[in-house]
Amino acid sequence: MGLTIAIDGPAASGKGTIGRALAAHFGLGYLDTGLLYRAVGRRMLDGEDPIEAAQSLRAEDLEADGLRGPEAAQAASKVAAIPEVRAALVDFQRAFAAREGGAVLDGRDIGTVICPEAPVKIFVTADAEVRAERRLRDLVAGGHAVTLDEVLEDIRARDARDAGRSDAPMRAAEDAVRLDTTRIGIDEAVAAAVALVERAGA
Ligand code: CDP
Ligand code: CDP
Repeated sequence: MGLTIAIDGPAASGKGTIGRALAAHFGLGYLDTGLLYRAVGRRMLDGEDPIEAAQSLRAEDLEADGLRGPEAAQAASKVAAIPEVRAALVDFQRAFAAREGGAVLDGRDIGTVICPEAPVKIFVTADAEVRAERRLRDLVAGGHAVTLDEVLEDIRARDARDAGRSDAPMRAAEDAVRLDTTRIGIDEAVAAAVALVERAGA
């Protein structure tokens, strides 16, 4: 089995940016697990039962319009608190993590539930205000009409719900290394993550 890297942390902390860069650097596959929950959330907003949606999730659901926006994000965080929804998504994530060439997965419960044996676990954080400013830039560039206050509220509400749920709450695994990106740019954050992986001898 190849190298598995587990990345967790709150909304817009830099998980995906760091995860994609690590995958490219070490030649691993990359899975944004948040997209699975966003796709289930989208189908719930379209009127479907979220458990049935999770059990029948299709590849094309991951390409639905607007999945990156705050509406899908809020819906994702709500369906993510339903144990049957989480259970329906476990096998796909574990199979991806076990792929031959190795993999990077990012989400909320990768180091604690999906891949507790991963040799490298990183918990990425940053102050909520900084995260909101960064996410606002991405959303506006993607054509979403949102304000900083709305983005900050979305992030705070999701963080509280994600950390407070009883099934697979967002938290750092005991052996995770914390990486705070509040005061560092992408290049520095990625360099720190690469160094962590190399130090782990992976
Ligand atoms: O995947 P996650 O929601 O945790 O965050 P992301 O989409 O990777 O990062 C949110 C935004 O923060 C992106 O625009 C990143 O480019 C930016 N970012 C940054 O400015 N500095 C960092 N050290 C990490 C991310
Ligand atoms: O990009 P951002 O960090 O804002 O969110 P995301 O990673 O796309 O995740 C959207 C929502 O899905 C989160 O707020 C969580 O409620 C949920 N999620 C989860 O519960 N477990 C995961 N492994 C990934 C996402």
